[in-house]
Amino acid sequence: MTFIEPDGTRREVEAPVGLSVLEIARRNDIDIEGACEGSLACSTCHVIVEPEDFERLAEASEDEEDMLDLAFGLTETSRLGCQIVMSEELDGLTVRLPDVTRNMLLD
Ligand code: FES
Repeated sequence: MTFIEPDGTRREVEAPVGLSVLEIARRNDIDIEGACEGSLACSTCHVIVEPEDFERLAEASEDEEDMLDLAFGLTETSRLGCQIVMSEELDGLTVRLPDVTRNMLLD
């Protein structure tokens, strides 16, 4: 799968089936906070899925939607990285990291 960092850098990384996008980011030193360790109690693992990939994902649960509402820079294709679990179908997934720093400065 590929992560696009806020400055536009693309990082292609191994995405083992069964790991969440948050876990994959951690393994590869990609900067996603994930403060609650995947227990759906924060929104710091927010990622923006590329529109052409978004339809391939399973729908977000209601709890995920609720947390997403609190995320900075929410978009139509926003998801929580800890809730996207890699499968064969998601091979080649591309997600963008939201520009959190900029959002905080504007606040
Ligand atoms: S790590 Fe907190 S909701 Fe994903």
